[in-house]
Amino acid sequence: MEKTDKIWMNGRFVDWDDAKVHVLSHVIHYGTGIFEGIRCYNTDKGPAIFRAKEHFQRFLNSAKLCLMDIEYSVDELIGIAKELLKINKLNEGYIRPCAFYGYGEIGIKALTNPIDIAMACWPWGTYLGEEALEKGVRCKMSSWVRIDSRMVPALAKAAANYLNSFLAKREAIDCGYDDAILLNSNGYVSEGPGANIFIVKDNRVMTPPASAGALRGITADAVMQIIKDLGFELASQQNIVREDLFLADEAFFTGTAVEVTPIREIDKRVIGSGNRGPITEKIQKIFFDTVKGRLEKYYDWLAFV
Ligand SMILES: Cc1ncc(COP(=O)(O)O)c(C=O)c1O
Repeated sequence: MEKTDKIWMNGRFVDWDDAKVHVLSHVIHYGTGIFEGIRCYNTDKGPAIFRAKEHFQRFLNSAKLCLMDIEYSVDELIGIAKELLKINKLNEGYIRPCAFYGYGEIGIKALTNPIDIAMACWPWGTYLGEEALEKGVRCKMSSWVRIDSRMVPALAKAAANYLNSFLAKREAIDCGYDDAILLNSNGYVSEGPGANIFIVKDNRVMTPPASAGALRGITADAVMQIIKDLGFELASQQNIVREDLFLADEAFFTGTAVEVTPIREIDKRVIGSGNRGPITEKIQKIFFDTVKGRLEKYYDWLAFV
């Protein structure tokens, strides 16, 4: 991670190296935190945050699901993000807001602990590498089952939920793959450790419904709109089984980190031709044209800094 100058923390901008918490903070022991991952892209009209409103609304939703009161509105948080980018002279990169139960009681209930809130940004290129965007990644079906809403609020971007993602991702890497795909406790396809999944079969695009335990991805939402606008049939309310993945013509991940990344192999089964598929390529191109501000049609998704 490349450092920037300042991090916003509890209402003030502090030096990067001074944005610290106590080792006995509640979040460190019990994972009682929430966060967002947001990208800012440099466009011809200047830097723009992609889908800022949706990301900060999901941030507040995650807080509500995890019993945290946040005293900032979506618009105020967007204002802080823009100021942070300007202070750090960052035109393109990643924005990471977080909120967490801080230092106080160490008991689980945390009735009196403060809710700390912070926001950082830094330069960040492609998550899985430029080559992955073009050639695709190799995935392993995880031995870990995706968390579900009976255990924890799976639709929240809650810190504790990411132990599940971490274990799946590490297992995949340790086994020589690039990434993982998780099934839910009913055996249906859910998502990747940090990305939503789409497959293409006979020109029809499919993605698991939120009820399959996947996070409601904001990139996936944009991609679904792009798919409809391209005129492809989209099935987003239908469960997908593992065999659908293996037999797909094309597959790809979507997410703030992975953007639109093709999947070329799953558990030694080559997907389609083993390269980025033609529909994936079309969607990917429109996605990058959108975030780079080249398509007026999707300007509403950009919050210019
Ligand atoms: C578990 C998980 N699923 C899906 C996504 C994709 O969501 P988005 O497109 O909103 O970044 C993310 C990343 O935020 C994630 O962490």
